[in-house]
Amino acid sequence: MSTASTGTGSATALRQVADLPCPRGLPLIGNLLQLEPTRLHQILERWAEELGTPYRFQVGSIPITIWTDTELIQSIMRERPHRYRRYQPIESVFDEMGANGLFSSEGVQWESHRRLVMQALSIPNIKAFYPTLADITQRLRARWLRAAERGETVEMTDDLKRYTVDVTSALAFGEDPRTLEQDHGAIQEHLERILPAVMGRINALFPYWRVFKLPSDRKLDQSLAEVHRYIDSMMARARARMRDEPSELPRNLLEAMLVQQQQHDGESISDAQIRANVLTLLLAGEDTTADSIAWTLPYLAADPALQTHLGEEARRVIGDAPVCPDYATLKDLDIFEAIAIEATRLRPVAAVHSFEPLEDVVVDNVALPKGTRMFFVARPAMVDAKNFADPQRYDPWRWMRKGEQAEQAGAHDVRAYLQFGAGPRVCPGRHLATVEMRLALSMLMNEFEIELAIDPAQIKEVSAFTMVPDTMPVKLRKRVR
Ligand code: HEM
Repeated sequence: MSTASTGTGSATALRQVADLPCPRGLPLIGNLLQLEPTRLHQILERWAEELGTPYRFQVGSIPITIWTDTELIQSIMRERPHRYRRYQPIESVFDEMGANGLFSSEGVQWESHRRLVMQALSIPNIKAFYPTLADITQRLRARWLRAAERGETVEMTDDLKRYTVDVTSALAFGEDPRTLEQDHGAIQEHLERILPAVMGRINALFPYWRVFKLPSDRKLDQSLAEVHRYIDSMMARARARMRDEPSELPRNLLEAMLVQQQQHDGESISDAQIRANVLTLLLAGEDTTADSIAWTLPYLAADPALQTHLGEEARRVIGDAPVCPDYATLKDLDIFEAIAIEATRLRPVAAVHSFEPLEDVVVDNVALPKGTRMFFVARPAMVDAKNFADPQRYDPWRWMRKGEQAEQAGAHDVRAYLQFGAGPRVCPGRHLATVEMRLALSMLMNEFEIELAIDPAQIKEVSAFTMVPDTMPVKLRKRVR
C-alpha cells in the first residue's frame, strides 16, 4: 500500500475508518434515514458536537468520514488535483446534467478550463467591466426604489439572484439577460432548480432517476432543456458577433472558449464542454454571492444603529451618486464586504466541502483507502473561540481591525474562514463576489432602511448544495436625510 500522509500524524496507533465513532443507525441502511437532505449540514454539525472529529456515518455499507479541523482541510485542499479530488458523485451528477465544467471536472480537463476562467475573472478584467457592473447595480436600485414606493415586500433571495445572474452573464459571456427588469419567465427561475437537485442526487443511495423519474425529475429535465437552449442561442450570438465585429483579443470567457475551439479544429474543447462551463459559471456565481448578501440582511435589520452608521459611511464614500461611481472608490468600502463576510462566518453558504483521496492516505492518524468519502463541515471552526473571539457575536468590525487593536481584540484566525476554499482550486470568482457585495450593500445602505417582514427565527437554513435561506422577505424604506 502506497501511503501518503496529510496533517498531524503522531506516534499513536493507526486507526481505520471503521474505528471512528459513528452515530447509531439501523442494520443494512446505516444512518440513511437520518440524513434529511435539506438539513444535511445541521445534522453533520450536531453529530460533530456529539462525537468529536473525525467521525463517520454510514450510507448502507459505505462510510463517509467527517472532518472539521481547518488545518487538515487546508492541506487537503492544497494537495489537489494530484492527491485529492472532489467527491466522485459530483462529477457524474453534473456530467449527466451537461454541466461538467470547471467546478466538477478533474485532471487535464480541469487544468485547461481553470486557465481560461481565471483569466476571465481576473482583477484587470473586472476593473474594465466596472461600468457595466455599476449599471446593473443601478437597475437593482431602480427595482428596489419601485418596491419601496409601492410599499411592497421584496423577496431578497430572488432579487439578488437576478442581480448575480445579470452580472455573471454580462462579464463572462458578453450578454446581459436583464432579468432584473423581468417579472416572470427569467432564465434564473430555471437555474434555481438545478443545485437543489444536484444536492439530492449526490447524496442518493442509488441513482433511481436513471430508472424512473419523479415529477420533480421531470421538472428538472424541462429546466435543464430550457437552460441548454438558452446557452446554445447565446453561443450562436457570440459566434455571429465574432464574425461581424471581429476583435484582436477575446472580449469575454465565451469568446475565449470559442477561439480555443477554432484554433484546435474543435478537438480540444467541444461545444458540450463550452456549454458545461457556461452553465457552471452561471450556477457557481448565482446562489453563492446572492445568498451571502441575503444572509447579511437579518443582522442589519436587527441593528438600527449599525444601519445608520452604514448609511452615513455609504454617503461619505459615494456621495450623491446612485452607486459607487468607479472601481478605485471600491477600496473605501471595506466595511460593506466585512458585513457580508461576518454574516457568512455565522451562516456559511459553503457549509460542506467534499473530497476523496486518489491514493491510499493517512490523515490525522486515520488510514483512508483511495476513494474514501470525506466531508469537511465548515461552521464548527468558524464559531470556535480558539479561532474567533466571542464567536457567536455578529461583529463585522473584527474584519477591519489592524495592528494593536486587532491584538487586543483576541482570536481572529482568517485561515479558519474557508468560504472560498483554498489551494489550486480556490474559488476563482471571489474577487467578483466581494465587488458585488461592496456595490450592492453600499447602494442598499445609502438609499434605504431595511426591516425583515417576518420574525428572523422563522428563516430556515436549507442545504441546497450551497446553504441558502428559505426566504428573506424585506421591507425597504427610502432613507430620509
Ligand atoms: C460569495 C460568493 C462565493 C462563494 C462563497 C464561493 C465559494 C466557492 C467554493 C467554496 C469553491 C470551492 C473551492 C475549493 O474547492 O477550494 C468555489 C469554486 C468555484 N467558484 Fe466560487 N464562490 C463564490 C462566488 C463565485 C462567483 C461569483 C463565481 C463566478 C462567476 C464563482 C465560480 C467558481 C468556480 C468556477 C469554481 C470552481 C473552481 C475549481 O474547481 O477550480 N464563484 N467557490
